[in-house]
Amino acid sequence: MSENLARQFLLDETVVFLNHGSYGACPRPVFEAWQSWQRLLESQPVAFLDPKRGYVERMRNSREALAGELGTSADNVVGVVNATAGLNIVAQSLKLAPGDEILTTDHEYAALEKTWAYVCRRTGAVVKSVTVPLPLTREVDFTAAVLDGMSERTRVLFLSHITSPTALVFPIESIIAEAKRRGIWTVIDGAHTPGHIPLDLEALDVDFYAGNCHKWMMAPKGSAFLYVRPDLQTMIDPLVISHGWTADNKKPGAVGPFGNTPFIDSLEMQGTRDPSAWMTVVEAIRFRHANDWNEVARRCRDLAQATAAEMAAVTGLRPLSAPQFCAPQMVAMPIPPCDPEWVHDTLISDYNIEIPVFRWKDHHIARLSVQGYNNQKQTEALVHALKVLLKL
Ligand SMILES: Cc1ncc(COP(=O)(O)O)c(C=O)c1O
Repeated sequence: MSENLARQFLLDETVVFLNHGSYGACPRPVFEAWQSWQRLLESQPVAFLDPKRGYVERMRNSREALAGELGTSADNVVGVVNATAGLNIVAQSLKLAPGDEILTTDHEYAALEKTWAYVCRRTGAVVKSVTVPLPLTREVDFTAAVLDGMSERTRVLFLSHITSPTALVFPIESIIAEAKRRGIWTVIDGAHTPGHIPLDLEALDVDFYAGNCHKWMMAPKGSAFLYVRPDLQTMIDPLVISHGWTADNKKPGAVGPFGNTPFIDSLEMQGTRDPSAWMTVVEAIRFRHANDWNEVARRCRDLAQATAAEMAAVTGLRPLSAPQFCAPQMVAMPIPPCDPEWVHDTLISDYNIEIPVFRWKDHHIARLSVQGYNNQKQTEALVHALKVLLKL
């Protein structure tokens, strides 16, 4: 992490920006590539959006580049505007009946809790949420908690891969395998995963997985993907019916109107929209490789974890997990009981520090994100400010 890297971003230099986790941030070359696509689109919209003049190939290029990073092939991932949209497509496609159970945890993202509540209202299914014990120190404790919630009625297992309020990496591999043995659909919220932790979708053997490219991959906002296992793709119905849909798209071997599989065509071709963020995923991946981002990320992880350790020493509060379950570049640091809104607002008004501070269950948390544009001076400023505000 260096001044040079910080200069690659458009972030306001007067702000100590420690909240990459909420919406990401896009490096200049990636942002410029995004603008180039938009200019090209605006210079000749009819040509740009014409499936016969390169549109289908450009959309596919992003699927190919992304699939290469995610351990799958281009026919199994499709661009969506954000992880919430991808997970909504799945949640609203699953055929659920009254009394069916959707098993999940108490660490899930609020918008997706609402999604499942909506699905339950329409289908009569019910959400069953298990408590994941904290601090999370052993995989068996996680697995046992989830297993304990499984019943004959469980149809869906819905888990975050990296959790939002607690920034934990859930060890999902073996529970996915167990769900599969029991015939339970697995739906994973990977909003924070791409570009943050290694991801091999086919090895994971998951049924449905949505992730954001606009967070840790640093692609423009509005770029995300939905992955669906090949044998389940005919189950998926788009939320928007448009030119890409055909009445016989569930027939075996059916081809969509634009030459892709019906799964891809029905989700990719949805009326007039600006596809430039999605097309820029190729450049975001190129930027990461060109700038050796794995090494940058390693340094970010070291700084994030060292800062969390320092805060723990100052507050005397235990971390929420053992290091192996902590998201590398995002740490939910427990802080003493306080008015989190006041702490958050005062960090901004008096210190120009942007970081989420909130109450989650019985915990008060400051969630630190460290990305390549951050440096130690900034995390020291955060620790200093928290010491003052929390009277530590
Ligand atoms: C775990 C989790 N799921 C889903 C989302 C939603 O992401 P988006 O708004 O890009 O759909 C977030 C956002 O931070 C998240 O943390």
